[in-house]
Amino acid sequence: MADDTRTARLEIEGKSHDLPIYSPTAGPDVIDIRKLYSAAGVFTYDPGFTSTASCDSTITFIDGDKGELLHRGYPIDQLAEKSHFLEVCYLLLYGELPSPAQLEDFEGRVTNHTMLHEQMVYFFRGFRRDAHPMAIMVGVVGAMSAFYHDSTDISDPWQREVASIRMIAKMPTIAAWAYKYSIGQPFVYPRNDLDYASNFLRMCFAVPAEDYEVNPILARAMDRIFTLHADHEQNASTSTVRLASSSGANPFACIAAGIACLWGPAHGGANQACLEMLREIGTPDQIPEYIARAKDKDDPFRLMGFGHRVYKNFDPRAKVMKQSADEVLELLGVEDNPTLQVAKELEKQALADPFFTEKKLFPNVDFYSGIILEAMGFPTSMFTPIFAVSRTIGWISQWKEMITDPQLKIGRPRQLYQGVTLRDYVDIENR
Ligand code: SDX
Repeated sequence: MADDTRTARLEIEGKSHDLPIYSPTAGPDVIDIRKLYSAAGVFTYDPGFTSTASCDSTITFIDGDKGELLHRGYPIDQLAEKSHFLEVCYLLLYGELPSPAQLEDFEGRVTNHTMLHEQMVYFFRGFRRDAHPMAIMVGVVGAMSAFYHDSTDISDPWQREVASIRMIAKMPTIAAWAYKYSIGQPFVYPRNDLDYASNFLRMCFAVPAEDYEVNPILARAMDRIFTLHADHEQNASTSTVRLASSSGANPFACIAAGIACLWGPAHGGANQACLEMLREIGTPDQIPEYIARAKDKDDPFRLMGFGHRVYKNFDPRAKVMKQSADEVLELLGVEDNPTLQVAKELEKQALADPFFTEKKLFPNVDFYSGIILEAMGFPTSMFTPIFAVSRTIGWISQWKEMITDPQLKIGRPRQLYQGVTLRDYVDIENR
């Protein structure tokens, strides 16, 4: 936090309160209100945290007006084009791009942790076959704290490191096994001779009855999707992980909380909701009806995959995702995919409509991702689990940053109480 002598003066009923202002290395200044309640006896009020910085961080910076997303200073479009997911994981976790030796060591450590404790198989078998894979992931990841006791003491740097590697390494296995379980196929074990994305694709689509060759184009597209979803500042699920971790809860339980939050259709569940919306629209001639519904204040319908709390211009991830969608569908020979045609026409019509441009509603990361994932063979129920696999590195990096912050305090917001004030109990015979 840059040293600043600037202050913001707050006048309340004739009394002045000077609050320190801090300047970041990038983004808006912040007003430090930590002493406001003790000094002035008032709370600030910000449901949804539209104007609240909840922490210091050095991991990811978003400029919503410029449509800029930086991970440790590197722009997402360069990382998506030139890097690969495990290198981005290293960057997010340790703060710098790795040397060749550091990258080889990191990838080796992740590879050697991709298997699950064999006893955990019974957790999957406890679910109904038609359980949503996100329900399985919340359960199995939470249960990891019952299996990996030697990496739950968050005060031990070594245990924090092992828990981080285990989470990054095991999430693809958990997601793939949740998928296999839902389609009644046997689990496929990870292989140490495959890269991260290829391993995930093989665990999802291989069957014991025949060999499975990973298509390198799909592996590259999968890896890029992982990179694009890796971290995103203090979004709802990351804030959930931070709040859960602030009580000292073990990392597996906190990541399970993040998975639960990500599941919502306003957040990570939007990729599934978006594809289902595009399918429901069906053909381009139906688009005007859905745009009218999205504009109708009395209709709860929203365009899934559109809008963002921070991006008031384009979402840089959506741009890369759109390019990737074109490439993958062309390579798969499905470039005339009807869903993609509807998506492109919907984007064109929405962005030509002042309702959306004036409200600064643009396609977000979820608008095109589902089209690629569907073309790769994933059911819509696997879209958010894939988001969770990727975002695990963001959650873990932000968790590690918070746990090692000397200013760490348990998160405990207050409220604007609007309920009934003090009254005495009335015995039932007098009611
Ligand atoms: C992700 O935070 C992150 O960084 C999240 C994420 C990440 O990487 O972690 O980027 C991933 O969650 C992307 C967002 C995925 N969600 C969706 O695509 C669902 C559809 N979008 C919305 O529900 C909405 O845009 C949000 C939730 C994304 C953002 O909501 P905000 O910031 O609280 O904005 P808002 O709801 O206050 O909307 C502002 C106005 C409202 O109209 P008014 O009440 O001012 O008249 O815009 C309207 C909204 O009704 N609006 C939409 C709309 N999104 C907002 N109208 C139609 N369609 C939409 N999609």
